[in-house]
Amino acid sequence: MKITFLGHASLSIEVNQKVVVVDPFISGNPKNDQIRLDDLKADYILVTHAHQDHTLDVFSLAKQTGATLISNYEIITHYESQGIKGHPMNHGGSYCFEFGTLKYVNAIHSSSFADGSYGGQPGGFILSAEGQSIYIAGDTALSYDMKLIAEEFDLALSILPVGDNFTMGYADALKASQFLNCSRVMGYHFDTFGYIEMDHKAAKKHFLDYGASLDLLEIGESLVV
Ligand code: NI
Ligand code: MN
Repeated sequence: MKITFLGHASLSIEVNQKVVVVDPFISGNPKNDQIRLDDLKADYILVTHAHQDHTLDVFSLAKQTGATLISNYEIITHYESQGIKGHPMNHGGSYCFEFGTLKYVNAIHSSSFADGSYGGQPGGFILSAEGQSIYIAGDTALSYDMKLIAEEFDLALSILPVGDNFTMGYADALKASQFLNCSRVMGYHFDTFGYIEMDHKAAKKHFLDYGASLDLLEIGESLVV
């Protein structure tokens, strides 16, 4: 799996000859001048919750690519009414897609659309493919439920929010990595806005002090698991 950071909480994952984009927020990201929405490819779009910093470009990207949306039931219903094809899931459910298997797992957060309408319950995804599993946490607080993930999956990578204020900060993300029994963490949801600016050096040192690693990619940069 090749994972490219598109900024904020947006990812592009190349897996089994498919492109899976997560939480596209490209055109409205004040820190982004590297990625052009028009250039993005997508076969599937995963959405963790309805907040605008995760859904702003869902409609445009789905229209331009014909990608299938995968999210909770309420978000899928919202976009299906606009002509986007989708696959609804809910917490605890797994489904085998052509690119791999997804499990939709708990997140502690909220999930409303920009107009205040209901966006279901927020979640994260475990993606299992090519003999490995990765955890895409979405926006969440630290939660004991993460121990359940470690009981079921041997994670190669956890992608965790680290920017604090709206989600966990990096200290709780380190605890999450311990609950998840996964020492390799990619941080996201940091620096985009003033509320979530983070000291990168301190964050990385904190992980190293506890025998874990924290990758903070530049926009457009990739890692491989
Ligand atoms: Ni959010
Ligand atoms: Mn967010």
